[in-house]
Formats: sequence, structure tokens, C-alpha cells
Amino acid sequence: MRVLVTGGAGYVGSHTVLALIEAGHTAVIADNFSNSNRAVLERLESIADVPIECHEVELTDDEATDRLFSAGDIDAVIHCAGLKAVGESVSAPLEYYRNNLDSTLTVAGAMAKHGVRRLVFSSSATVYGAGHTSPLSEDSWPLESSNPYGQTKVIIERMLTDIAAANTGWKVALLRYFNPVGAHSSGLIGEDPRGIPNNLMPFVAQVAVGRRERLTVHGDDYDTADGTGERDYIHVVDLAAGHVAAVDHLDSMATDVRAFNLGTGRPTSVLGLVGAFERASGQAVPYVVGPRRDGDLAVAYADPSRARAELGWAAARSIEEMCADTWRWQQANPTGMSSQLVS
Ligand code: UFG
Repeated sequence: MRVLVTGGAGYVGSHTVLALIEAGHTAVIADNFSNSNRAVLERLESIADVPIECHEVELTDDEATDRLFSAGDIDAVIHCAGLKAVGESVSAPLEYYRNNLDSTLTVAGAMAKHGVRRLVFSSSATVYGAGHTSPLSEDSWPLESSNPYGQTKVIIERMLTDIAAANTGWKVALLRYFNPVGAHSSGLIGEDPRGIPNNLMPFVAQVAVGRRERLTVHGDDYDTADGTGERDYIHVVDLAAGHVAAVDHLDSMATDVRAFNLGTGRPTSVLGLVGAFERASGQAVPYVVGPRRDGDLAVAYADPSRARAELGWAAARSIEEMCADTWRWQQANPTGMSSQLVS
């Protein structure tokens, strides 16, 4: 299939592009590069060893998005594009609702117009909010997130469910990511946050490489084995494979819309991840314990059984591999991708 990956130059999108190509699909990237780097394209092409079609496009722009679909025989869309920083969404909610909802409506509108009915959507475990107990199952209800970013995922899931329910032939997979980490084994692509990382793994990696002095552990008085928060970290290459499994499954899906958790089902604490990273990198990761971070849950991990049963997909990579691959990427790109070019 020719699969359009919106946000295809981003962290999850770029790994998904590679996974699609490896599986024999053709990947077409659409990205506005607002939170990604143009150098990614060259790197993807060097790994995949094929030219990759890439369109710089604003997906909130109806005409530009329409042109994208007019140009090219798209069979399916993986919609990864969107703003994704939880904290930023609290201070700029209008921007988050405007961008994430508008771009999804614009892409879905163009799909409807051009007869494209297969859609895989980048959702998030944040849709489960604080009201459910781990392991989190897709049947948890109601969905509610504690922040505007997460609410955009809840609302978009609802919009896509309504679109699929109109019985016009849509098939929609809602992929609820847990905590994507790691990088491609080549060390050429990985997570490249701008500014101070919000998420644990890139922060730990930047401490290990000497770019930041120490990690602040956000609370060690949770009701968990070591008192720190537990999450379901999933290797981004496994996550990318989950997207391919979902695209391939759409036509045989029993219902028109279906949510799938993409996680390992195994919780790891903050200190557990720090220890694994120290072992993988051979570097010390100094930390101090600070107060809890607003809105954080003690524990969040997936029940991944539906994806295993229905998509035939399961995460394979361990925390050790997640840390080793992150470290390889971090060492090769100590200041991120912006100042580096592929040699
Ligand atoms: N943490 C620290 N110090 C840091 C950063 C994080 O101790 O500097 C802790 C957090 O308190 C939490 C754990 O590390 O216990 C993981 O935090 P992340 O920020 O890496 O991830 P979250 O689980 O908070 O959020 C992530 C994504 C969201 C998504 C959510 C879904 O960032 O986009 O998972 O569950 F919505």
C-alpha cells in the first residue's frame, strides 16, 4: 500500500516510515517540521536505501492537504502529526485544540473527498486519565485526560468513532501509545526534543552524556515498590511495528473502529529506568528527588492482550535494549540532530 504518514519526520512517525518500507509498503511523509528536523529525511533514505517522498505541508490548510491527496494514490493514512507536550498544552490550550483538532478534521475531510477510508490514529494512554486501574484495558470508560493535550486525543478518538459509525466504509484503528522510548539501532534517528526534555528517557540520556547535570525524580513517595512512578516504556521500533500491523489489519477488522493499547504490559519505575540506563551506558546518572509533578499518576501500564490477539503484534524489546539504543543515538547526536548532518 501507499501509506501517508502525517508527522512522518517526527519521532514515532520516522520509525514508522522505516517499518512500513521494511514491510514492503511505500511511505509518503507529510510534515510541517514544526517539531522535527529536515535532516531526518536524508537519514531515513540512507537507512532504507530508497528515495522517500516527503511533502512539507500545513495539515490545517484545506487546499494544501487536498493537493497532497490529489497528487497521489494514497491507500491509507497513519496520522501522527500533532502537538504533544503535556505542560505546554496547559499554558496554550487554544493552540492545542486548534492544531490537533483542525489538522485531524482537515486530513479526514481530504480522505473522505478522495475516497481514502483506512486510518490509523496516534492516540495515547493519556486518554485513560486517573480514573482507571492498571493494567489498563481498552474497554475502560469513560475516557478523560487531565490536560488539554490528552483531551485532544479523547475528542479526536470520539470524532473518528463517529465518522466510522456513519457506515461509509471507514476502518479506523486508534493506537493508544504508552511511553515510547529508544531509537533505531543505526543511531541515525531517535527522539530529538527541543529545549529541556519533559520526558524521563531523553532527560536521563542527556544527563548521561553530560549535557545536563542531574535528573530530578518527581516524587519518591508513591505507593509503588521503590516509591517512584511506574510506566510502561515501549521501544519505538516495536511501536512502529504496531502501526504496520494495524494498517495491515484494517481491512479484516470486525468493527469499523477499534482501539488498541501499544505497550509491553510491564511497569518500570523511574529508579528502575535510571539503573537500567546506567548499566547500558556505563555512565552515572546523578539524581535528586523533588516533589511530585502535578497531574502525574503513580502507575500506568497496558493490558496489551487485544493487540496480541487481533493484530498479531507484541512488543519484543526489553528495557535494556531501550536504554542501549537510546544511548547509541544520544552518543552519536549529543546535541540533537540540528547541529549534525549525516556523513
Ligand atoms: N519523571 C521524572 N523526572 C523527569 C521526567 C519524568 O521523575 O524529569 C517521571 C515522571 O514523574 C513519571 C515518569 O518519569 O513518573 C515518566 O514521565 P514522562 O514525562 O516520561 O511520561 P508520562 O508518563 O508522564 O507521559 C507520557 C507522555 C504523554 C502521554 C503519557 C501517556 O509524555 O504524552 O505518557 O501515558 F500522554
